[in-house]
Amino acid sequence: MTYGQINPPSRLLMGPGPSTADPRVLRAMAAAMIGQYDPAMTTYMTETSELYREVFRTTNEQTFLIDGTSRAGIESALVSLLEPGDRVLVPVFGRFGHLLVEIAERCGADVHTIEAEWGQVFAPEQIEAAIIDVRPKLLAIVQGDTATTMCQPLADLGEICRRHDVLFYCDTTASLGGNEFEQDAWGLDVTTTGLQKCLGGPSGSAPITISDRAAAVINGRKHIEAGLRPSEAESDDDPEVGARIASNYFDLAMVMDYWGPKRLNHHTEATSMLYAARECARLLVGEGMPAAVERHRLHGAAMLAGVQGLGMSVFGDLAHKMNNVVGVYIPEGIDGDGARAAMLDDFGIEIGTSFGPLQGKVWRIGTMGYNARKDAVLLTLAALEQVLRAGGAQVTAGGGVGAAQEVYA
Ligand SMILES: Cc1ncc(COP(=O)(O)O)c(C=O)c1O
Repeated sequence: MTYGQINPPSRLLMGPGPSTADPRVLRAMAAAMIGQYDPAMTTYMTETSELYREVFRTTNEQTFLIDGTSRAGIESALVSLLEPGDRVLVPVFGRFGHLLVEIAERCGADVHTIEAEWGQVFAPEQIEAAIIDVRPKLLAIVQGDTATTMCQPLADLGEICRRHDVLFYCDTTASLGGNEFEQDAWGLDVTTTGLQKCLGGPSGSAPITISDRAAAVINGRKHIEAGLRPSEAESDDDPEVGARIASNYFDLAMVMDYWGPKRLNHHTEATSMLYAARECARLLVGEGMPAAVERHRLHGAAMLAGVQGLGMSVFGDLAHKMNNVVGVYIPEGIDGDGARAAMLDDFGIEIGTSFGPLQGKVWRIGTMGYNARKDAVLLTLAALEQVLRAGGAQVTAGGGVGAAQEVYA
């Protein structure tokens, strides 16, 4: 059997992610392969760490990439921090909080949760009260839960965690680059993210940053692979202590040695994804992190005004909505999946469905990364008006584009 070349249809990805990758990132991925210890490659690795320190707003030495999609970053953090029986607190306000619970349970941790209704976030006092109650080793939380569009305020949680001697992990896959985030100023220990939302890249690499105190906890479990260990006599490594990390691939103690000055062999770095991740960060840092957040705020505000201008109702607590995605109730009488199919077939525009309690009720529309742009917002609103009208919904003629234009004016 013969197949044609890969030739995907032209799409504007305006769902909750992945978003359309920036062409500059795709061009970087087409660069030639080089060996993993080629000085050019190790220089790119060092540059990538430096760039992600700026993206995460940290001075953490341990800042690098996990090869894999965003959940590879999450798994590496949790499996390296949590030993069987360790208590962890997960405040859950959407699907991705449940993902943290699921991964922590697989690590054998003693997982405790508090839950907020979908569309809401937690007050810091609620989280502190649960910390006092549970006395966890780790607080694990999502910043922006894509499932609900909500953005959990984090600024007060680091101080609370330090006061109670708790490590603080955050998943910023959906939010980093499009919403304010301060690794050091907010006192986080470990943060992971992905490229495919506000960073404007493809999925497949998970940037991570690790504080010195978290790195010390992880290195307390360091067990170097047989065959890589120098002989006892010449070893300058710490003796192997602590419970061995239950995953080889996601063993952050070994990955830190791979990215650190020892360059101790671990996996073969995913070269094209490193090129992509480096370019995503280079573009963001060039723009300036505050400017990137402001760009997402502006285009997110225009999209919000636009869907409201079409007469649609918006899901959740708007005071805590992420800049880069909005949930809209599917209007009465409209077939949600049929309308999304019409957006795709007639206009080449993808918008998102929802999961769990919001399935069939809410669409999610993103304005993120390369698509946090005026033309992408206006085209999406113009197409949505046509599709809703064709489905028989009452929409204000020109109301979406007009309301968005007012935000831009
Ligand atoms: C908040 C959040 N965490 C984790 C993930 C999982 O990411 P991935 O599919 O890249 O593994 C996603 C994906 O949408 C997400 O939005």
